[in-house]
Amino acid sequence: MRIESTSSGMTKRIAAALAPLLSPSDLVAMDGPLGAGKTCFAQGLAEGLGLCGVVASPSFVLARHYPGFLHVDAYRLASEEEFLALGLEEQLRSSITVVEWASHVNGALPEERLDLRLEYAPAEETRFLELTARTDRGRGIVRALADALGQGRLTEPAP
Ligand SMILES: Nc1ncnc2c1ncn2[C@@H]1O[C@H](COP(=O)(O)OP(=O)(O)O)[C@@H](O)[C@H]1O
Ligand SMILES: [Mg+2]
Repeated sequence: MRIESTSSGMTKRIAAALAPLLSPSDLVAMDGPLGAGKTCFAQGLAEGLGLCGVVASPSFVLARHYPGFLHVDAYRLASEEEFLALGLEEQLRSSITVVEWASHVNGALPEERLDLRLEYAPAEETRFLELTARTDRGRGIVRALADALGQGRLTEPAP
C-alpha cells in the first residue's frame, strides 16, 4: 500500500493508526534516505502505543527499549552478525519493534514483518510511504490500516 504524507504530523498520525493493529513480536522494517521520516514514523508509533514524547533519534544508540516497544537504528551496523550480537531476542519477542535502515541487517530480521519504504516526493513536506506485507497476517494489518486511513480515523494531533 502506498500512502502520501504531506507533513511530519501526518506521518506520525499514520504510524499512530498502525499502532493498535500490531501485537508484541510484530516488526516494521523501515528503509529510505536520511530525512525521509523513519524516526518520525517511529515516534508516531510510540505515541500510538501511549509512549508520548519519549522516542529520540537513536543516532548514537543502536537500540532503545521502552515498555512493549523497541526502536532499532541499524545505520551503523555493518552485518547481520552485528545485529544478532546485540542480543535483542527477548525484546523482539515481547515488543512491537521498528527498525531504521533495516536493509543493513535484512537477513537477521524475522520473515513475519512489515516492510516500510519511505521516499521523498517533489513537494518539500511530502513523503511517500510504501507498506508491504509478507504474510497473510501482515496483509490483514495493511488492509486494516487502509480502512482506518480511508475512514478518516486519523486522530488530530494533541494541541
Ligand atoms: N511528510 C513528512 N513526513 C515525515 N517527515 C517530514 C515530512 N515532511 C517533512 N518532514 C521532515 O523531515 C525530517 C524527517 O526526519 P527523520 O524522521 O529524522 O528522518 P530519518 O529518520 O528517515 O532520517 C524531519 O525534519 C521532518 O520534520
Ligand atoms: Mg532516523
